[in-house]
Amino acid sequence: MSSVPQHIAIIMDGNGRWAKQRGLPRALGHRAGTENIRRIVQECKAQGVTYLTLYAFSTENWNRPGPEVQALMTILGEFIDRETRDLHREGVRIRHLGNVAGLSPQLQQKVRYALDLTQHNTALTLAVAFNYGGRADVVQAVRQLVAEGVPAEAITEEQISDHLYTRGMPDPDLIVRTAGEFRLSNFLIWQAAYAEYYSSPVFWPDFGAEELRQAIAAYGQRERRYGALPEGARS
Ligand code: IPE
Ligand code: IPE
Ligand code: MG
Repeated sequence: MSSVPQHIAIIMDGNGRWAKQRGLPRALGHRAGTENIRRIVQECKAQGVTYLTLYAFSTENWNRPGPEVQALMTILGEFIDRETRDLHREGVRIRHLGNVAGLSPQLQQKVRYALDLTQHNTALTLAVAFNYGGRADVVQAVRQLVAEGVPAEAITEEQISDHLYTRGMPDPDLIVRTAGEFRLSNFLIWQAAYAEYYSSPVFWPDFGAEELRQAIAAYGQRERRYGALPEGARS
């Protein structure tokens, strides 16, 4: 029995350790990590995954040293400049999850360009969580509901889901974290309620197609119960 997750979300971790292992500056680890995205997008398409979400910069990552934060901003801009046209040609729709207003005007402009260009594509949705925090996501959703004047008793789980940055996307089926950590670090905390988790010891820049296939295979072995009893267990 094997099934492919419709939505894979990846916590791309270990860029710094990858660089350290090679005696390189951390920024080069981030650059190598960004170059890996293309491989993973290709493999998702090949496997029939239709939503891929990548955690690229958390609201807590602002607490890193200024030069590293600056490098991550620069690398996002370079990624958009370098990859958007190819992604567009491959039918990838790009989405941004997070607070875009917290980015520089130039970066906001690049993000808007990538979203607008690719908005009608249907082969794969690539959601980039950049300046994203799960708690901030819930807070901005609640604020929207209040601003819309939705009465307290009309607030439902569905309403909240429909106001999150991920609105319109299915919840992640599989959450992968690289570099051997076992935590969410404020990623998709609402959306991950029933996701399956997979942790790989491999640092993100080295996490290639084969590693992704292993994660998908592990997912295929899981039994998702959603709190109910498995098939055939009723008696
Ligand atoms: C993940 O790599 C990328 C970001 C968090 C932006 P890290 O930079 O966290 O790498 P490690 O965890 O220090 O190895
Ligand atoms: C999570 O990784 C954030 C991203 C991958 C963008 P971190 O490296 O920031 O997480 P912690 O600090 O180890 O929890
Ligand atoms: Mg890390």
